[in-house]
Amino acid sequence: MPQTLGTDCHPAATADELAAHYAVRRRVFVDEQRIFPGSDRDARDDDPRTIHVVAYAGHAVGGAVRLYPLDGAGRRWQGDRLAVLPQHRARGLGAPLVRYAVKTAAEHGGLVMVAHIQLRNVGYFQHLGWHRDGEVEIYAGLPHQPMAIDLRT
Ligand SMILES: CC(C)(COP(=O)(O)OP(=O)(O)OC[C@H]1O[C@@H](n2cnc3c(N)ncnc32)[C@H](O)[C@@H]1OP(=O)(O)O)[C@@H](O)C(=O)NCCC(=O)NCCS
Repeated sequence: MPQTLGTDCHPAATADELAAHYAVRRRVFVDEQRIFPGSDRDARDDDPRTIHVVAYAGHAVGGAVRLYPLDGAGRRWQGDRLAVLPQHRARGLGAPLVRYAVKTAAEHGGLVMVAHIQLRNVGYFQHLGWHRDGEVEIYAGLPHQPMAIDLRT
């Protein structure tokens, strides 16, 4: 049975950690899934309210997620760019990243968190307490299921 990697998730605190966060995203969304040509970075990454999270697999960053408020009051948050390097998958890195993003949005006063979920991952997010929130739509060029989680519970 593969070893569980653990739950060391936190916002990127150094330039190296931020670079590692971006490197995980590029490896997964540009090189592997080819959703974005060249770079998956966008204006959200330059917004000072955006939180770039890293998760460690041993001594190296193996997973990433980002989150940001969608409104000025910070009541509605979005999470995206959830990615775990292929060699570290199914070892308990992704679920702690999702839970960390949810916890962090709640701690910042969020009432609800939303995400656009690739169809193959809908069951994964349901397993983590999320629910479908609308019809499937095209996001980043692919069909995604809007999903949400109540942060007040
Ligand atoms: C989706 C992703 C982040 C999951 O990360 P991970 O570290 O492999 O997931 P975990 O190890 O935390 O998985 C926890 C559990 O969910 C299960 N699971 C993983 N992916 C799943 C899926 N797509 N659907 C249902 N269950 C899933 C695992 O088997 C595991 O089950 P277990 O606890 O009973 O063993 C990872 O597969 C990934 O980076 N995929 C490519 C990028 C991507 O799809 N990002 C999300 C865009 S919406």
